[in-house]
Formats: sequence, C-alpha cells, structure tokens
Amino acid sequence: DSSNLYTTYEKYFYVGVALSKTDTADDIVMQSVLENFNSMTHEFAMKWSQVETSPGVYDFSYMDDFAGIANKNNFRLIGHTLVWHKANPSWLFTDRVMNDDMARDFYLEVMRKHIATMVARYRGKVHGWDVVNEAFYYDGNFRPSPWLNLIGKDYIEKAFEFAHQADPDVELYYNDYGLVDKSKQDAVVEMIQRLQEKGVPIHGVGIQGHYSLTYPDLERLDNAIARFSELGLKVMITELDVSVLPFPGPEERGEDAEINPARVQELNPYSEGLPDEAMQQLTDRYVDLFCIFLKHRDAVSRVTFWGVTDARSWRNDWPVKGRTDHPLLYDRNMQPKPVVPALVDLA
Ligand code: XIL
Repeated sequence: DSSNLYTTYEKYFYVGVALSKTDTADDIVMQSVLENFNSMTHEFAMKWSQVETSPGVYDFSYMDDFAGIANKNNFRLIGHTLVWHKANPSWLFTDRVMNDDMARDFYLEVMRKHIATMVARYRGKVHGWDVVNEAFYYDGNFRPSPWLNLIGKDYIEKAFEFAHQADPDVELYYNDYGLVDKSKQDAVVEMIQRLQEKGVPIHGVGIQGHYSLTYPDLERLDNAIARFSELGLKVMITELDVSVLPFPGPEERGEDAEINPARVQELNPYSEGLPDEAMQQLTDRYVDLFCIFLKHRDAVSRVTFWGVTDARSWRNDWPVKGRTDHPLLYDRNMQPKPVVPALVDLA
C-alpha cells in the first residue's frame, strides 16, 4: 500500500533520516529507510575526522558509496557537517608556533581547503550542506571553538563564502540546537541578519530537534519556525528524536558525575522496554510536533529524524551515558512504533 511516511508528506516537506555505518550494512534497516524516507544524512561519516584521516589524505570510499545509494534511490542527500567544534581530526590543532595573525590566515586556508574539497567532491550529489554546526551557547554567546579562537567571529561567514565558491548551486544551512530558546534564538537571528546584510549566501536554518516529551513548549517551537522563515530562509527540522527519559540535572551529566544507585534507576526507567502508556505519550508528542510542522508547511522544507532504530540512537548516551532511550520511529527489533501510522493518518 501507499501508506508510508514520505509519500504522505511529500506534498508538504521531505522526510529525512540520519544513518550510521551499521545501518547502511543492514538490509532490514535499509528496506525501511527506502519505504519511509526521501532524504538522508550520514550521522557521522562525513565529519572532518572521518574523511581527512591524515593530513592531506582524504578517504572518500564509504561516503561515495553512501552518496551513490542516496542518488540512485532519488533521496535528497544532506551533507553534515563542514565546520564544527567537534569531530575534527586530532592532528588538526596540534600546537604550532605562530602569532595570531599568522594563525588566522593559516586556519582560514585550512578551513577553505576542507570546505572546497568536500563541496566540490559532492557537487551535484549533495542537495544542501550544514555549513556551520552549533556555533552558539544557550546564553547567546559564541561557543568556544578552535575556529572561533583561531580565526575570529567571522569564521561563520567565511565558511559560507567558501562553500558557495566551491558550488554556487548547493544550498547552505546553519544548523543548531536550542533555537526555540530566547537568548540563543536572538543571537542566531542576529548572526543570520548580519550575514544577509553583507550578502553572504545562506539559504536555510536547521532547527535541531533533540526533544523530549515536554521540551520544547509547542508555542515556542511554533514561534521559532515563524521567526526563522520571516528571515526568508528555508526552515528544516533536523536531528529529530524525542527522548522519553527524565532529563538529568547539570551536576548529573559529567563523565565523573556521582549518581547514587536509586537515582540511576530513576533516570533509566524503561530498560526493559517501553510500557504502553509511555508509548502513547511518545505517539501523542510526535503528533503534536508534526501538527506544528504541518501548520508551517510552506516554510518547512524537510524534517529529518536522527536515526532509524532506538538500538543505535545517540540519545542512549546523551545527556548521560548508557541509558535505554526510545526516541525514534523503530524499536530495538526494527518494529515500527504506532507513531508511524499516527503520523501517516495525520497528513
Ligand atoms: C552525533 C551522532 O549521532 C553520533 O553517532 C556521533 O557519535 C556523535 O554525533 N548534534 C549534531 C550531530 O549536530 O552531529 C550529533 O550526532 C548529535 C548532536
């Protein structure tokens, strides 16, 4: 039958999914991916540390195959991500003796070269790139990043310019979490307006959807989509996953946080599976979120889930490691959850 996600939603927006290397090697997963989605992203393999394995040496073999799968099956392929504070090669920022001006020029050129290499390689294959990922903190300040430290605040606009030089036809996005929250949203809106005033090419914003049963407040999500679309940008909901677990306090989140056993249990209540009641809450929550996305169907061009099966969701390890979360559309046995038909019925 025709009741799958992407055919239901294709008149409104793309429905995307992020895959891992384990996913692409699994026929059952790939079957479901072909059935329900029409956009794909790799959750890890395109990051800098994964492609430029030693200085000047790029290994494109896996990503070339991945792009081939996407293109052959008419998926919209999204590149993730060119410039980030994380997943940089370990050799990239080794101490070099140079003054600030030299460092700026040196790392601008390093960044330009990487962007040019990636964007040129996948020209005509990637529809859009997450050019800069997560440049701000919740409080609206620039997030400390080697790029900020070595180049300065204009590393963002430089990255977009370099990407545009390498492929003037590809879409360029700024991608971040917490864009529904006031301080950060203000900072990102200002940054984008500054880029636009200077004529820097930027085509869209990715609102990361690492959500929960209660976060974010739907009205704030509604307003955030409206605000970014008023800037004349395509709005994408990226990295969507809905955690069903309690969100730990800040002191419970570090590597060496000391959490007593009772609290560990409390933070990980569904290690034996998701009870019906919680499954229903998850379904209702996804339906509520998609109601907002549908309300903004003219602004939203894509909604991408951050993974296929709960078995491999990064949410099992974030914001605390080693939990059993249930944030995605498929359970640990690759059975579709009731969320899937609920979303199909909605549109
Ligand atoms: C995560 C992936 O899901 C993991 O597999 C990987 O180990 C680390 O990165 N924000 C982002 C994504 O922009 O790139 C991150 O993805 C999740 C948070």
